[in-house]
Amino acid sequence: MPIPSPIAWTPRHTIRILDQTLLPGEERYLDLDTVDAVAEAIRTLRVRGAPLIGIAAAMGLTLAGAGRPLTLDAVRAAAATLGATRPTAVNLHWALDRMLARAERTAAAGGDLSTALRDEANAIWEEDRVMCARIGAAGADLIGGDAVVLTHCNAGALATGGMGTALAPVYVLHAAGRRVSVVADETRPLLQGSRLTAWELGRAGVPVTVIADGMVASRLRQGDVTCVLVGADRIAANGDVANKIGTYGVALAARAHGVPFYVAAPTSTIDPATPDGAHIPIEERAPEEVTGWRGHPAAPAGARAWNPAFDVTPAELVTAIITDRGVFAPRDVAAAV
Ligand code: MRU
Repeated sequence: MPIPSPIAWTPRHTIRILDQTLLPGEERYLDLDTVDAVAEAIRTLRVRGAPLIGIAAAMGLTLAGAGRPLTLDAVRAAAATLGATRPTAVNLHWALDRMLARAERTAAAGGDLSTALRDEANAIWEEDRVMCARIGAAGADLIGGDAVVLTHCNAGALATGGMGTALAPVYVLHAAGRRVSVVADETRPLLQGSRLTAWELGRAGVPVTVIADGMVASRLRQGDVTCVLVGADRIAANGDVANKIGTYGVALAARAHGVPFYVAAPTSTIDPATPDGAHIPIEERAPEEVTGWRGHPAAPAGARAWNPAFDVTPAELVTAIITDRGVFAPRDVAAAV
């Protein structure tokens, strides 16, 4: 069964998203026709994953006119709204900066802003699709054949404009007839691993085993995992990697067990302006995401919680970074952009 696209234009030039908060139980699509609706969808993780939120924000910017012809001021205000939704994934700001630059060029030349911004959003989306395919090819070469891949969070088709980043090599190997399977940790607190990664791999026919986050080290000690492969939300100039909270622990466990730890990301995720991981802004989300699940308590009433949505894996724990421009040692990754 094919994996549905997590985002699309409607015939009215509004935006249709697959509401990822409802998966795997329900496949529901939402039509978004205002900048605020797109911002809400990004903030609440109805659309999520670094490349996809960049694409969604780019598409969302085209709604800035609220039914009237677009103006540069409205586009700038919409970019501020969308840019304030999530701080860690640099793709969001990368995409919005690119859209703003196109808007300014178009306005200066007296061109039509709506057409130009739709074209630019489509270009960002299409380039991401191509980058995913290149990451898939490079990663499949690196892994080289049959494999058991352990991943954290969801860096697949649901998180991008294409076949994914961390899951792209898996899809390429699977399509080539290799025996490839995935161990997906559940990724507390929002369960992107068990809800989303397992769902899309299942649709694609790739064997997947779900484990709780606390089982990662034990699974790596079993000796059957070929490599760990994760995505990224921002890669600093020195090769430090921000990704979903829990990634750092997986990297430590991989190092302890001699398992290669690969990061797969498009060049839009590499941020040469951020010198190292300490300078990456880490999103903090509501404590209720930790103390409960969809209204059911997971901790006693009044318990305090800490809920950083991302962590930083230091470059020295990363074996290699797989990009659309090839495979890099972490310390050399800035050369990819
Ligand atoms: O909070 P999320 O679900 O948006 O976090 C997603 C991740 O951390 C992914 O691993 C990352 O964005 C890469 S997606 C190709």
